[in-house]
Amino acid sequence: MDFKSFSNKYTSSIHYDKRLFHEDIEGSIAHINMLSSQGIVDKEDKKIIVDGLKQIFSEIESGNFIWNEKLEDIHMNIESRLYEIIGNKAGKLHTGRSRNDQVATDLRLYVKKIVDLTIESIKNLQIVILNQAEKHVEVIMPGYTHLQHAQPVTLGHHLLAYYEMLNRDKERFKAVKEITDVLPLGSGALAGSSYPIDRKFVAEELGFSKVSNNSMDAVSDRDFVIEYIFSSSLCMAHLSRLAEEIIIWSSQEFGFIKLSSDHTTGSSMMPQKHNPDLAELARGRVGRVYGHLIGMLTTIKGLPLTYNRDLQEDKEGLFDTVDILNQTLFAFESMIMEATFNTERMLSATDEGQMLATDLADYLVGKGIPFREAHGIVLQLSKYASNRNSFSELTLEEFKNFSDKFDSDVMDITIESSVYARNSHGGTSPSEVRKAIQIARKKVDV
Ligand code: ARG
Repeated sequence: MDFKSFSNKYTSSIHYDKRLFHEDIEGSIAHINMLSSQGIVDKEDKKIIVDGLKQIFSEIESGNFIWNEKLEDIHMNIESRLYEIIGNKAGKLHTGRSRNDQVATDLRLYVKKIVDLTIESIKNLQIVILNQAEKHVEVIMPGYTHLQHAQPVTLGHHLLAYYEMLNRDKERFKAVKEITDVLPLGSGALAGSSYPIDRKFVAEELGFSKVSNNSMDAVSDRDFVIEYIFSSSLCMAHLSRLAEEIIIWSSQEFGFIKLSSDHTTGSSMMPQKHNPDLAELARGRVGRVYGHLIGMLTTIKGLPLTYNRDLQEDKEGLFDTVDILNQTLFAFESMIMEATFNTERMLSATDEGQMLATDLADYLVGKGIPFREAHGIVLQLSKYASNRNSFSELTLEEFKNFSDKFDSDVMDITIESSVYARNSHGGTSPSEVRKAIQIARKKVDV
């Protein structure tokens, strides 16, 4: 390969930025409409250009467009095809515009659309989680800290924790849309335009609510890309935590969850296997998304104003992030919807690990003992009962050996009473979880 061909390949972005064809054509049509309404290009030429652009759009959509790898990027490919279709008039389209403000516009249009899609996917997963939570409001299971039995909780409550994480993600993506919603077109290469352009007109045509205030910033700003990738990173972190729980819950030791056969794969050697590969791959792909975040932060960190070719590196990481996040959200929606919980196993697991210790301490507090002292008494009791599965195996006499405040009503403390008692706002009791689901259902579509 001669150096010219090598260099063309090295600098080209067409193999990935063709994904922006829709936005590129949309942006060009708005631009030429504005040029014509401002009298910069006459109406007949505008019509010829718009028709040409529409033809290119259908050629690409139908798969009949011939991509030319030698023409660097999406903008050059489309412009060159426009020349083929309408001849020299094609040259009028680029009046008062540079690829620098063009590509920034394309990318913002793209991110705005993708954010809407992402928010929709998050909502869909939230609804599936709410449905499962509602179905399992009263199912009792061990709650963990340090992955050790801590206090009994309801499965509904546990699931709602993920609803909350996703809700924060949704809010973050709304904020991403807000900062992306600024039109850079009209900034030219870096300094603005000497033509009597109407930027508000273009903003309205393209659905931007604001126009950029500084042309130098506008052509070199990729904060919105980074914020999309950051918000995706955090959302993926949440999905990865859920993936981890699904993976350990479906192990033989836990046996809390059974995934449908659509969400597991067998082993080529061990016939009995149902591996949670989807969840594992979700957990694994987070690394790639974090990588794109660091990659993009690093790309912009030393750039002098304004546009530098380094910025072309904004797209591959963004597109990969978009694919990973949206596919993972979809995978989880399906996986959680069809998962079955082994509720008996969850409940029986609460028999182990002395999970009522806090309730016993609270009981003594109710009899007038300060909490710290009560904690000490139950600690001794717990050591004494260390060879028993749970406190329910102790007799009243044994309790009384540790404090004369223990009475026959101590026998009423059960896993159920523990869970039902935790009805502070945001607590695990079924009544609180029901309230939380009700509130969530109202909020989920907003
Ligand atoms: N393909 C380029 C990018 O994605 C478009 C802008 C090129 N501008 C330039 N002055 N070479 O950033």
